Amino acid sequence: GDGAQVPALVIGTGYGGSVAALRLAQAGVDVHMVEMGMAWDTPGSDGKIFCSTLSPDHRSFWLRTRTKMPLNYFLGFPIDRDVSRYTGVLDAEEFGGITVYQGRGVGGGSLVNGGMAVTPKRENFSYVLPSVNADEMYNTYYPRANAGLGVANVDPAWFDSTPWYQFSRVGRKHAQRSGFPFVFVPDVYDWDYMEREAAGTATKSALAGEILFGNNHGKKSLQQTYLARARATGRVSISPLHRVVSVAPAGGRYTVTIEQLDTGGGVTATKTVTADRVFFAAGSVGTSKLLVKLKATGALPNLNGEVGKGWGDNGNVMCGRANHLWDPTGAQQSTIPCAGIDNWAAGGAFAEVAPLPTGIETFASFYLSITRNPNRAQFTWNGATGRVDLNWQASWKQPSIDMAKTIFDKINAKEGTIYRTDLFGTYKIWGDHLTYHPLGGAVLNRATDNYGRLHGHPGLYVIDGALIPGNTSVNPFVTITALAERNIEKIIATDL
Ligand code: FDA
Repeated sequence: GDGAQVPALVIGTGYGGSVAALRLAQAGVDVHMVEMGMAWDTPGSDGKIFCSTLSPDHRSFWLRTRTKMPLNYFLGFPIDRDVSRYTGVLDAEEFGGITVYQGRGVGGGSLVNGGMAVTPKRENFSYVLPSVNADEMYNTYYPRANAGLGVANVDPAWFDSTPWYQFSRVGRKHAQRSGFPFVFVPDVYDWDYMEREAAGTATKSALAGEILFGNNHGKKSLQQTYLARARATGRVSISPLHRVVSVAPAGGRYTVTIEQLDTGGGVTATKTVTADRVFFAAGSVGTSKLLVKLKATGALPNLNGEVGKGWGDNGNVMCGRANHLWDPTGAQQSTIPCAGIDNWAAGGAFAEVAPLPTGIETFASFYLSITRNPNRAQFTWNGATGRVDLNWQASWKQPSIDMAKTIFDKINAKEGTIYRTDLFGTYKIWGDHLTYHPLGGAVLNRATDNYGRLHGHPGLYVIDGALIPGNTSVNPFVTITALAERNIEKIIATDL
């Protein structure tokens, strides 16, 4: 409540925040978590917590009056529709040159994401986090993160036989015929549950098109894993629909200013809480925006010049290929990708074979590529608008397109196929307008020390994707979780 005093305040309830809360609570520290999104624990009038992907309603998007689907066209027609403005679960945050998709609610990105839980190849780790000891990560913190998140692989025998992964098997055949390594991608979706969905003995979620706006069943989001364990300690409280707007020093502690929101996004109250320690876990964009604003406006004047820098899009780029009539990808498609094409070493691209769960046969193969895009952007405070800008340029996606082409130009040549041009616009091949994987903005060992302690203000920490300098070579949340496990262990041992 207003005026409260807490030992540890965590801003945000995504991966970094949930790890911090659990480990601090286990060490005997009372933790208060502040989350701007909703709790997502109460069914709506249709009996479901989350709305479906194919018929998005007010629950879909964060404070928008029209949806902004990542695949915004189908068969050349725009598919977005009007919705009522509500604190929905997926934010499509628009900056000048890029739209950044993020989860909003208790559980952060784990509510909306595909659950793909990939540990980078060890040989790529020094590129991902150059200042971190790889032995410690691969011996201790990656295994701890994978166990805490509940990561597992699809049963290969079921994969080979189920109609729900025909799209992936077509992807495998084409990858292998062009000589690319094809790998299974682990996930936090409960694979046994999915098999029961297929058998008709469990309520369908992944097999009913649910993804992006939340899964009503099957997916082990943070609500079911780290946050459940954190709550069970009895030491963690969470305030949903509360947004942190300021953090400022106050006699060796910090005063945190928090706005309470209603479901239309309006501010209904402003509160202050005093905290001994504050953990910034608002995600790469949320943490960067706060820190850049607080430095520029003088609330946290001692933050260094690295704050706001080193932001990358994990090289995300999407595309589709049009298959021949003898290569249907299936009307039935699981929304959970489980396989990918690895051409990182030779071409700088790791491509997930993604579903296009429209319910009809499309003869399309669809891919989300993660590429070694070298471009990095910076967040800056704009005093005139009172907002934080990001200087990413639309043209900075070109290296990602070139890297993705090292895979798909070859497959198209081998198969005699072409790119789809109807998924992202009218005659547009590349989905190069967005990222799902924002990373950086308060980079480890630059804006912070090598464990996330912010320079200049003792007791302030960054513990989320903002620490990672722009690229993880694979999907990021396992690395965000593992790094948080490493850092919080050190912080508990030496700072408390
Ligand atoms: P995260 O974004 O999870 O959490 C931050 C939280 O802080 C949010 O809940 C936010 O509402 C809250 N917040 C922000 N500002 C605040 C403020 N001022 N006050 C209070 N609260 C505030 N990754 C992966 O590894 N595999 C995958 O399959 C996918 N797929 C995927 C799909 C889609 C559609 C998206 C959008 C993202 C993915 N990702 C993914 C990315 C993954 O979800 C992402 O990298 C992590 O959620 C980031 O974790 P963090 O802990 O950094 O922040």
